[in-house]
Amino acid sequence: MYTSRISGLGYYVPENIVTNDDLSKKMDTNDEWIQERTGIQQRRHIKKGDGNSTSVMGVKAAKIALERAKLTTDAIDLIIFATLSPDMYFPGGGVQVQEMMNMRTIPALDIRNQCSGFVYAISVADQFIKTGMYKNVLVIGSENHSGGLDMTTRGRGVSVIFGDGAGAAVMTRSERDGFGVLSTHLHSEGAHAKELSLEGPSTAHWVPEIIAENPQENIPYYPYMNGQFVFKNAVVRFSEVINEGLQANNLTAADINMLIPHQANLRISQFVQKQFKLSDDQVFNNIQKYGNTTAASIPIALTEAWEEGKIKEGDLVVLAAFGSGFTWGSAIIKW
Ligand code: UT7
Repeated sequence: MYTSRISGLGYYVPENIVTNDDLSKKMDTNDEWIQERTGIQQRRHIKKGDGNSTSVMGVKAAKIALERAKLTTDAIDLIIFATLSPDMYFPGGGVQVQEMMNMRTIPALDIRNQCSGFVYAISVADQFIKTGMYKNVLVIGSENHSGGLDMTTRGRGVSVIFGDGAGAAVMTRSERDGFGVLSTHLHSEGAHAKELSLEGPSTAHWVPEIIAENPQENIPYYPYMNGQFVFKNAVVRFSEVINEGLQANNLTAADINMLIPHQANLRISQFVQKQFKLSDDQVFNNIQKYGNTTAASIPIALTEAWEEGKIKEGDLVVLAAFGSGFTWGSAIIKW
């Protein structure tokens, strides 16, 4: 029986730091509001001309993960690329990574599950490895939010939260019983699809028609978020899906060494931490530095936690995410 384990991790964020004060020069917002409601102090934004894009950042993170896994690109059997902000409408970022990294004609799969994208990707990789079909899978979460945010006061409820960056994990076949990915649990609830969404450009909002018929303020090219509704659902679903994972493995919250929640909002992470009675050492947050980087947030946080020595062999690591779709999921990993 095969299991999958994470054999290498890496992340990349653009150099350009955007503070809350920087944002307050573009829109009616302020450092106090942003920190109080979200915990965010700064985020990274791609700077025009710095050469970054969603797939380029994904490649930078992937190269570090591969090096740490001590593997070359030839060893990778599948690329899974999670993003809501691909460079192109189609094709997806996976094939761009393949091309940029000079990889064989291996399959490249894009996952469009927003904040839950990385957990979904881990689950897909795990299934392919468990069945014996693939040995090494490159999983990437990468986002370029800054290219598509409404940086005026109209968009402040959304735009102050999101940041750019990428994280990557190499997942590798293992035969060590009781280690690696113990389980993944995934969910979705399409009834709330519109509560956190970006409608256009899409086939439902055909570009020439929109330009011809809509006044500027109605162009649906900026993300919409019903913040309070998302928040309320997030705290419930995070807790449910973490419990589901723990119970499936006969574990309790006391067994958790490290919880890496999707970095949606520091207040959400703190709520979940309280619910499971976890100490500060058992939960990792870095939203203060990077904002919410959607599909990239868990691999960036996981990599930082690992680099800081906060994840050791034998630790129980829990990943959990919730976001647009709604979609949510958890992964229980014995490191
Ligand atoms: O990762 C995907 C999942 N996403 C999430 O989990 C996000 C979940 N939601 C949230 O994190 C919070 O709902 C937000 C941080 C987005 C918003 O916080 P909130 O406490 O729910 O604020 P609100 O939307 O109810 O807005 C409160 C007030 C409003 O003004 P009035 O109507 O009370 O006068 C907003 O217009 O704050 C105003 N406001 C702002 N003020 C300063 C909204 N955005 C801003 C801003 N700066 N950036």
